[in-house]
Amino acid sequence: MKRMAVLTSGGDAPGMNAAIRSVVRIGIDKGWEVLGIQHGYAGLIADNVVPLGARDVSGVIQQGGTLLGSARCPEFKTEAARLQALRVLGKHEIESVIIIGGNGSQTGAYALSQLGFPVIGVASTIDNDLYGSDITIGVDTALNIALEAIDRLKVTASSHERAFLIEVMGHGCGYLALMAGIAGGAEAIVIPEVETDPESVATELRSAYERGKAHALVVVAEGARYNAAALARYFEEHHERLCFDLRVTTLGHVQRGGVPSAYDRLLATRLAADATERVTRGEHGVLVGLVKGEIAATPLTEVVANKKLLDPRLLELARVLAK
Ligand code: F6P
Repeated sequence: MKRMAVLTSGGDAPGMNAAIRSVVRIGIDKGWEVLGIQHGYAGLIADNVVPLGARDVSGVIQQGGTLLGSARCPEFKTEAARLQALRVLGKHEIESVIIIGGNGSQTGAYALSQLGFPVIGVASTIDNDLYGSDITIGVDTALNIALEAIDRLKVTASSHERAFLIEVMGHGCGYLALMAGIAGGAEAIVIPEVETDPESVATELRSAYERGKAHALVVVAEGARYNAAALARYFEEHHERLCFDLRVTTLGHVQRGGVPSAYDRLLATRLAADATERVTRGEHGVLVGLVKGEIAATPLTEVVANKKLLDPRLLELARVLAK
C-alpha cells in the first residue's frame, strides 16, 4: 500500500488537529496508509513516526494544539539534518509528506523538495504572514481571543478612565494587531510595518480624551520596535510631561491555545483535504492555501521567495474609525 506522512511544525495553531484528521481520513479513503511524524522536523530526524488510523483522529476536530506535537528545529537548516530526514522517510517507505505550518516550516518543506522529495505544504500559522494564503489556519481563533481580551479591557479602562496597552502576537507581522485593533475599536495601533514614534501614540491618546472618550486602548504588535514593554518604559521615563498612567497586558501564548473556531476547523479541513488529494494525484512542491476565496496551490519556490504584505489602507481606516 502507498504511504504518505503528515507533520505539524513551528508554533501550534488552532485547527492543526482538524487538518491532521482531514489528511488521515482522506488519505485512507483514497487507499493510502497514513503515518504521523511527531514533534515536527525534530521528530522526523529522530525517527518519531507512528501509524495513524481513522480512530486515532476521533474527537480532535474541536481541540486546539496538535496531537502530533510540534517543535522549532533550527537543526533542520543543516544539510546533515535534511539528509537524515530523507533516510528516515526512505526507511518507512513514505512517498510524500504533508507539512502543516508557517514560514519556517514551509522553508523546511522547500528544502526537502529541492532534495527531490515530494512534499506539499498546508498554510498554518496564527501570524498570517505566509505568502500563498490570504488567511492561514489559526488566525481566526487567535484574533477572536485577542478581541475578547480587548473587549474586556475596554470595560475596565472606561470605568477608570485609563489608558491600556495590549500586546498581541504576530512575530514580525502586524496582521493580528491591525485586525484586532480595527475589530476592537482601538484608539491607536502599533505594528512593525509602520515606524511609530511613542510621542505620536501619546498624541493619539491625549486626543482621544479630548474628544470625550472614557478610555484609550493601544493595540501593539509584539514585533513592533516600540512593543508594549518599550512603550511603557518610554511613558514611564517621560511621565511628568506625558502624564499618562498606562496599564499593560501582554496576551502572549494565550492566543495560541484556544478551541479552534468554526472558521479554522473548516479552513483546516478543506486545505488539508485538498493537499491530500494532490498527494494521491502525484502533485508536489506546492503550498495549499486560500487565495481570493478559493483553495489554490502556490509553488514552494514562490512561497519562500516572497513576503506577504499588509494593506496600508487598513491602518488609515483604523485611524479614522477611532475618531
Ligand atoms: O509563529 C507563531 C508565534 O506564536 C508568534 O506569534 C510568536 O512570535 C512565536 O510563535 C512564539 O514562539 P514560541 O512559541 O516558540 O515562543
